[in-house]
Amino acid sequence: MRTTEPIVWLNGVFLPLSQACVPVEDRGFQFADGVYEVIACFGGAFLDLEPHLARLERSARALEIPLPLSRDKLALLCREVYARNPWPEAMIYIQLTRGAAPRAHAASPTNPTLLIMARALCLADGQRLAKGVAGITLADIRWRRCDIKSIALLANVLARREAERRGAYEAFWLDEHGHLLEGAATNAFAVIGGVLTTHPEGPQILGGITRNRVLRLAAELGIPVRERPWSPLEPALQEMFLTSTTNLVLPVVKLDGRLIGNGRPGPITRKLQEAMHAFIAELRSRARARAARGS
Ligand SMILES: Cc1ncc(COP(=O)(O)O)c(C=O)c1O
Repeated sequence: MRTTEPIVWLNGVFLPLSQACVPVEDRGFQFADGVYEVIACFGGAFLDLEPHLARLERSARALEIPLPLSRDKLALLCREVYARNPWPEAMIYIQLTRGAAPRAHAASPTNPTLLIMARALCLADGQRLAKGVAGITLADIRWRRCDIKSIALLANVLARREAERRGAYEAFWLDEHGHLLEGAATNAFAVIGGVLTTHPEGPQILGGITRNRVLRLAAELGIPVRERPWSPLEPALQEMFLTSTTNLVLPVVKLDGRLIGNGRPGPITRKLQEAMHAFIAELRSRARARAARGS
């Protein structure tokens, strides 16, 4: 267990977390005017680093915040931050805000704030992975650009607090037609009549990097997939699971108090969970081999 203080990179400087400060007029602090990414790193091997950085660039462009560094430079910095905080399983957190300026809604400071930090990644324990988790559903109260990975997460915070209050792990958003969109901080999949089903990408959901990885694994495994709006009340619903960088593939076995299927993780969920763990094991062993070669 590491006990030393994490080292972060803030606006060009490496420093201990406790010394990293941003001005009180930073627009991230006053307006939630910024974007972020969370990237998993297993034994020095990043999971889908490129797609995460591409999404950061897309989110920043959507908010007209200039990315102060190229994607290549960002990738290099992520590796350097990890090297200074080498937890066996880590998550790299990147936050970009519009920067500091006297408080005015439309202000456009010229120096964005960029933070890169690492923390230990606490993956779901064996019990949770094996047994699955409970979820609740809530009416979607978020804005209409959920495809942007914005740091404005108030609705998501309230949803997770409500889930916790009701003894559930995740809260899932329902649109006005009763379609299940995604979770407060996860994407959602169902198996309906043997078909892996998930809401299509668009402004109503965040295009999860783990979601995309799972869709690729499903294609490799020959699992039929349909991206379409779906309802948890569909009679042919057999399985459900959630995906995210920090949860990977996690079965959902109960929703609003009702069992999904027989209340145990289903076979397609299991297959995808195993495929994801195998994919990560392969990443880890390639990283080990690279380290042994000294490259
Ligand atoms: C709203 C929302 N949907 C989905 C996800 C999952 O995205 P990813 O797989 O890229 O972690 C997240 C992750 O934070 C999220 O906040």
